[in-house]
Amino acid sequence: MASAPGAAAPQRVFVAGASGWLGRNVVEAAVARGLQVTALMRGSSDTSGVLQHPSVRLVVGDVCDPGSIQQEWFEGVACVVSVLGLRSMAVTDEELWRVLRDGTLAVFRRAAAASSVQRFLLVAGGIHTTPQGLPCRGMDHNAAREAAIDEIASTCQAGAAEGGGITWTAVDASVYF
Ligand SMILES: NC(=O)c1ccc[n+]([C@@H]2O[C@H](COP(=O)([O-])OP(=O)(O)OC[C@H]3O[C@@H](n4cnc5c(N)ncnc54)[C@H](OP(=O)(O)O)[C@@H]3O)[C@@H](O)[C@H]2O)c1
Repeated sequence: MASAPGAAAPQRVFVAGASGWLGRNVVEAAVARGLQVTALMRGSSDTSGVLQHPSVRLVVGDVCDPGSIQQEWFEGVACVVSVLGLRSMAVTDEELWRVLRDGTLAVFRRAAAASSVQRFLLVAGGIHTTPQGLPCRGMDHNAAREAAIDEIASTCQAGAAEGGGITWTAVDASVYF
């Protein structure tokens, strides 16, 4: 649908982890609010639960392969929402750090390099028990995120000191319904 002359273009949100439980809900909520969405998922992701809508652009990349995350996807994006997570806690500590720290940072660096991006929203939190009720690697899970958050915070502070940059928010809730 064409915009009325002089009307502001709808804002665009980039969702990393769009095929996940939270990601699917973020995509739907954004579209319901009239936003454009760029939805990042992997080639192997199950897209069946992801809203198919003219306002949703699907892009395929793996945050563990930063070269697959294209800078042009972030041009015109106002806000990045990162809801990356591990599908299972039955992964190595290295995998936790690769996705939660390095993968988050790969997305953040693209966001920070795009002049249009004003906000970076990261959903943190931790899974503290396995489905069997056993203690999981909660410390590594959270330490990996906190390492990413530390770098994001210091990069944003440096950007703010130079009179530019983006603002960031980390949301740490125990569960979302
Ligand atoms: N759900 C909650 O109530 C809750 C509460 C507090 C915190 N959190 C945190 O919020 C985050 C999202 O939660 P969720 O329940 O939505 O998790 P989820 O359903 O497991 O979704 C994780 C998402 O991350 C994607 N992903 C994983 N590795 C990736 C990679 N290398 N490259 C690109 N995408 C990748 C997954 O893609 P695939 O589809 O390809 O696997 C999926 O889209 C998690 O970190 C979780 O700890 C969730």
